[in-house]
Amino acid sequence: MNPSPKPLIRKASFSDGHAIYERIKAHPNELVPRSISNIMLNIDRFLVAELEGQIVGTAAWAVLPELDPTKNPSIEIQSVSVRKDLQKQHLGRKLVEAAMERVAEFQPDQIIVLTFTPHFFAKLGFVSVSKETLMYKLYKGCMNCAKYASPLTCPEVAMAYQPARKNSAP
Ligand SMILES: CC(C)(COP(=O)(O)OP(=O)(O)OC[C@H]1O[C@@H](n2cnc3c(N)ncnc32)[C@H](O)[C@@H]1OP(=O)(O)O)[C@@H](O)C(=O)NCCC(=O)NCCS
Repeated sequence: MNPSPKPLIRKASFSDGHAIYERIKAHPNELVPRSISNIMLNIDRFLVAELEGQIVGTAAWAVLPELDPTKNPSIEIQSVSVRKDLQKQHLGRKLVEAAMERVAEFQPDQIIVLTFTPHFFAKLGFVSVSKETLMYKLYKGCMNCAKYASPLTCPEVAMAYQPARKNSAP
C-alpha cells in the first residue's frame, strides 16, 4: 500500500491568496482575520502547506519597528494554521520552523508571537515574556483590535524566541 502523501511546505504565490484567506478564516477564535488585500500585499511573507492541490496550512510573519539603533527589528510570527483533520501530526511545527528559518536570514533581534496556544510555541523554543516588553507590537497592532479593551487584559500570551546570532564570537 502506498504511504499517504505528505503536505509540501512552500512559499506562497498570489494564486494562493483566496485559499489562505479561507484557511485563516477557519480559525476565528484563534487567529486575527486578514483581508484578501492584506494577504496579497504581504504574500512574500507567507508560507503554505499544500496537500493534493489544497492549502492545508499557513504561516506568516511581519517586521516590527525598532527605535533603538543598537537593535535589529523583531519579527512576529502570525497566521499559523493547520487544517483540523491534519492537526497533531507535526505540520504546525514544520510550518513555524520553516518560517523561523526564513526570517533568521534577516537577523532579527527576536522572533515573537502572541498566541492562545503557548504550549505549542513552547515546544518550538519560545518563552513567555511580559507584554510590556513588546510595546511596539501593542501600539502597531493590538491597539486596533476590537475584541479586547486593552492588550494587557487580552488572554493571548506573548512569547519570544532569541535566534542564534550569526558571526558571534565562539
Ligand atoms: C496551533 C496549531 C497551528 C498546531 O498545529 P499542529 O500541526 O496540530 O501542531 P504540531 O502537531 O506540529 O505540534 C507540535 C507540538 O506541539 C504540541 N501541541 C500542538 N498544539 C497544541 C495545543 N493546542 N496545546 C498543547 N500542545 C500542543 C503537540 O502535541 C506537539 O508536541 P510534540 O512535539 O511533543 O509531539 C493548530 O492546532 C491550529 O491550526 N490551531 C488553530 C489556529 C491557532 O491557534 N494558531 C496559532 C495561533 S498563533
